[in-house]
Amino acid sequence: MDVDTRIEKFSDPADLAQAAADHFASIIGAAVRRRGRASVALSGGSTPKAAYRSLTTAPLADSIKWNRLHVFWGDERCVPPDHPDSNYRMANDVLLSQVPLPPENIHRMRGEEDPHAAAEEYEKMLCGFFGGADAHFDLVLLGLGEDGHTASLFPSSEAVLREVQGLQKRWVTANYVNQLADWRVTLSTIPINAAAHIIFLVTGSHKAKALKRVLRGPYLPEELPAQLIRPQKGLLLWMVDESAARLI
Ligand code: 6PG
Repeated sequence: MDVDTRIEKFSDPADLAQAAADHFASIIGAAVRRRGRASVALSGGSTPKAAYRSLTTAPLADSIKWNRLHVFWGDERCVPPDHPDSNYRMANDVLLSQVPLPPENIHRMRGEEDPHAAAEEYEKMLCGFFGGADAHFDLVLLGLGEDGHTASLFPSSEAVLREVQGLQKRWVTANYVNQLADWRVTLSTIPINAAAHIIFLVTGSHKAKALKRVLRGPYLPEELPAQLIRPQKGLLLWMVDESAARLI
């Protein structure tokens, strides 16, 4: 399956962040013009913070019809929403609390609950939002771990093994991560790969090895779950800085 993959390299993370915010605004703007609303699944971790911050300043912040945007997450840690590790808290502190987004448009994964129950509840909510057919986010933002994980699809984790064996039917799943000795709640590749736009944000030389293996190495999805991200019809864009791209 040929996947429409693009790579955009940036001299420094600040340029990447601004460009990512520009992509975000134009994708969301086009979706709102076309269908009256837009949906984005945010990435956790630290890389997206600068891009989220860029969305809160004029002129971008004024160009987005925030009341038409619905915000979701690609994954969540199993912690309360005010915990320092919470992906919801990061996005809320840096972005959501700074823009006029109606609270009812913010759909967080309830990391404070039992992970299986939280995954079940999130999947039900997604089915309702997308009308049960297939989840079609306008945009999914993802990061890349040094071990090749993305969202909370970690190497050799049960959720990844189910994906590799073609057994994954769930849109959202609880995933025990041995490497962290903790549970996560994560989208599976089903809603991610159905998205219209998937954008990876990768910065820092510590990501160079993983980026090279994922983009240029053999297809080893159990070891490199980021390789499972292959949009069915959408566009896949890797936004990388020069440090992360030094080996490709
Ligand atoms: C999370 C993310 C995870 C993240 C990568 C990269 O919950 O942490 O979903 O997949 O994107 O681990 O994290 P950094 O951006 O912090 O390097």
